[in-house]
Amino acid sequence: MFNLILFGPPGSGKGTQSEKLIRKYGLKHLSTGDLLRDEISKKTILGIEAKKFIDIGQLVPDEVVIGMISSELDAHRDTGLLFDGFPRTQAQAEALDKLLKFKNSEIGVFLSLEVSEEELIKRLLNRGLTSGRTDDTNEEKIRARINEYRIKTEVVADYYSQFDKVVIVKGEGTVEEVFNTLCKEIDTRMHQK
Ligand code: AP5
Repeated sequence: MFNLILFGPPGSGKGTQSEKLIRKYGLKHLSTGDLLRDEISKKTILGIEAKKFIDIGQLVPDEVVIGMISSELDAHRDTGLLFDGFPRTQAQAEALDKLLKFKNSEIGVFLSLEVSEEELIKRLLNRGLTSGRTDDTNEEKIRARINEYRIKTEVVADYYSQFDKVVIVKGEGTVEEVFNTLCKEIDTRMHQK
């Protein structure tokens, strides 16, 4: 089973590219952002707690997110997985490795999308006009999310680079151009297995 992480700052195109990649490679899409928004819409205790952090552009506590991913891994034992928006801290990365090891599995490649800050803000403000996402509503919240990414999440790439898993991909250009680059990198890594 081939598992991959699609990594990058808010607005870098993780969700957009994930939809295309899961179709092409038959992977299960695990987006912690989508899972949390689902909990919020159902008004579960987890969702109510998570909303307090998401609304101000901060990360949800590790234990909440790790517990959620652990249940998802149990539910999808026999499928290759695409992680989108997870792991976002070193603690989450270490927890994911342990969970995968337990399943006799591992991460095949860590694809990191790079997009300029100016472009990220432009994309998210634009999406905020129609998405209804509370964290896209203004530039202050978007900048808070990017700041969380710089402080807490970027280190996750350092964690995976020690295992030689990281590939940096230019996230600007058309959706199709970015997709083609991602596919080339995935194909290379898949055939190395
Ligand atoms: P999450 O849902 O993961 O959001 P995010 O990382 O902020 O990412 P986005 O969904 O905003 O952007 P994206 O990179 O997926 O880009 P997209 O394809 O949508 O997390 C939300 C919140 O949940 C977090 O802030 C945190 O509070 C919490 N959370 C989630 N996971 C967590 C975790 N593991 N730990 C703790 N907390 C967690 O594209 C964006 C826009 O750009 C779209 O409009 C799209 O159409 C457009 N676009 C995409 N590609 C291109 C392109 N090539 N050219 C032009 N436009 C493009």
